[in-house]
Amino acid sequence: MLRNMLTTGLYLSLLAQLGGALPEQLFSSSIPIKVAATFGALPNPIQYPQYTDTTAGAWQYFVPNTWTSGFFPATGYALDTRQRLCGSTPANALGTADWLGLARSAGNGLLNLNASDGIGHDVGFISFPFVEELLVNPQNATAVAAINNFATMLAARFDPIVGCTRSWDTADPTDFQVIIDNMMNLEVLFQSADLTGNTTLRTIATTHADTTMKNHIRDDGSTWHVVEYNSTTGAVIRKRTAQGFADNSTWSRGQAWGIYGYANMYKRTNDTNYLTTARRLATYFLDTLPADGIVPWDFNAPLTPPPRPADSSAATIAATGLLLLATQETDAISRQTWTDSAQQLLANITALAWDPSWQSLLANGTVDWPAGNLLTGIVYGDYYYIKAGNDMVTMGLTSCSADVVNSTSSAAQSAPTARSASSATRLSPFSSLW
Ligand SMILES: *[C@@H]1O[C@H](CO)[C@@H](O)[C@H](O)[C@H]1NC(C)=O
Ligand SMILES: *[C@@H]1O[C@H](CO)[C@@H](O)[C@H](O)[C@H]1NC(C)=O
Ligand SMILES: *[C@@H]1O[C@H](CO)[C@@H](O)[C@H](O)[C@H]1NC(C)=O
Ligand SMILES: *[C@@H]1O[C@H](CO)[C@@H](O)[C@H](O)[C@H]1NC(C)=O
Ligand SMILES: *[C@@H]1O[C@H](CO)[C@@H](O)[C@H](O)[C@H]1NC(C)=O
Ligand SMILES: *[C@@H]1O[C@H](CO)[C@@H](O)[C@H](O)[C@H]1NC(C)=O
Ligand SMILES: *[C@@H]1O[C@H](CO)[C@@H](O)[C@H](O)[C@H]1NC(C)=O
Ligand SMILES: *[C@@H]1O[C@H](CO)[C@@H](O)[C@H](O)[C@H]1NC(C)=O
Ligand SMILES: *[C@@H]1O[C@H](CO)[C@@H](O)[C@H](O)[C@H]1NC(C)=O
Repeated sequence: MLRNMLTTGLYLSLLAQLGGALPEQLFSSSIPIKVAATFGALPNPIQYPQYTDTTAGAWQYFVPNTWTSGFFPATGYALDTRQRLCGSTPANALGTADWLGLARSAGNGLLNLNASDGIGHDVGFISFPFVEELLVNPQNATAVAAINNFATMLAARFDPIVGCTRSWDTADPTDFQVIIDNMMNLEVLFQSADLTGNTTLRTIATTHADTTMKNHIRDDGSTWHVVEYNSTTGAVIRKRTAQGFADNSTWSRGQAWGIYGYANMYKRTNDTNYLTTARRLATYFLDTLPADGIVPWDFNAPLTPPPRPADSSAATIAATGLLLLATQETDAISRQTWTDSAQQLLANITALAWDPSWQSLLANGTVDWPAGNLLTGIVYGDYYYIKAGNDMVTMGLTSCSADVVNSTSSAAQSAPTARSASSATRLSPFSSLW
């Protein structure tokens, strides 16, 4: 016991020496200023920014029936949250806009989406603004109806023989394709189950997560992007990639969705298999980073030629997933490992990709490398950048400015939802920390 305490104390003071400032850009006034400008530029009838061009960083707009449409309204809610966490000062520019009003108005463009629109499995992402709305106004019947509608659409894509919700529709309906990204859609099922008491929705979520845990994750904690099942037999037909470098490679954004998705599954269920899985995915992600700490778009893409591009969105999604994982850990060292790693990802990607001249916050996003869509800003990369900053404030890791992360004392306080049920598992943290 004493030895553990001494070791812990030594470890924490070592981390305190490593210190590490958060990038000041994480709370920059440029964030509200750019986001307000984009709200002012939304087309009418409404379309939503998804990614930028590669030269001027100008947003490209897409119709509501696009998987990314929820992220920009959710960004408005995130700045409303930040304003409540941080207050408005001339220096932080959070008083620039009525974030809640802008977010609600933009989110209304998503209310009429339905299955006959071809809106498919991505209803979880699209539901984000309404999940945020309920945190502001839990009685909002419009948001409740939207969440229940999206959850019903996702549940209709569940196949009990396969044990998953279907991702892409296919010409041959027995070819049942599931992508790792879909771990992010399960939260809308829990949201709706909480609202309606329909426990079938929870069962669908846990079944999908269990099947994915079995078939999408390799022994080394890396992930396949796509698993194809035969819906007649439930058998796995094929494992492959869609957006990665190769069928057997690890697409970094998929890995990041998996970290967040399994940390959230543990938060939702207390099933330690999900916690173990989130740790395994996080460990692979961090241990496989190159020495410069920049997240490549695919961990197995060759360095040269051509120079291997980054994916800034994978970095910010992973950082936010690591922060969520940290809140689920019970011991200070685990929490510190994940929060310090999140901070490092954010510092590294800011140094590479923060671009004051672009409409997006970050450049260096890889939307879809096989399709040649890279070196852009990306709306979800920016959303998770802002969310990561907010979460660090909520966790007591920093104030609302670019001060040094509270390494020495915050670990013990940073996990308000932590619990004692977690089992000790080998952590292989970002090796540079040890
Ligand atoms: C309820 O939510 C909808 C959809 O997000 C929003 O447009 C509306 O302003 C909200 N109304 C109230 C009274 O909270
Ligand atoms: C479904 O979406 C289409 C196209 O946006 C719209 O015309 C139709 O009214 C919607 N149906 C329902 C039931 O909301
Ligand atoms: C619960 O949700 C499932 C999936 O949408 C649906 O089939 C079922 O009818 C719902 N149960 C009740 C009691 O509403
Ligand atoms: C799935 O299995 C059934 C029955 O064996 C077969 O007819 C069908 O072609 C298979 N589908 C795919 C996509 O392999
Ligand atoms: C993927 O498969 C190729 C061809 O078999 C092999 O050369 C490569 O090392 C594999 N990559 C990984 C990451 O396993
Ligand atoms: C998880 O366990 C904690 C502590 O026992 C408890 O407070 C919480 O309600 C549980 N959550 C779920 C989703 O079961
Ligand atoms: C980052 O973006 C710049 C500008 O597009 C590009 O020149 C550079 O190669 C990118 N770096 C990485 C690692 O993707
Ligand atoms: C990445 O982070 C590490 C650790 O903080 C730091 O040593 C390195 O300089 C960073 N690299 C870049 C490009 O910011
Ligand atoms: C850092 O920790 C100290 C001691 O617990 C606390 O008083 C302070 O508010 C924390 N600072 C931040 C920025 O969270």
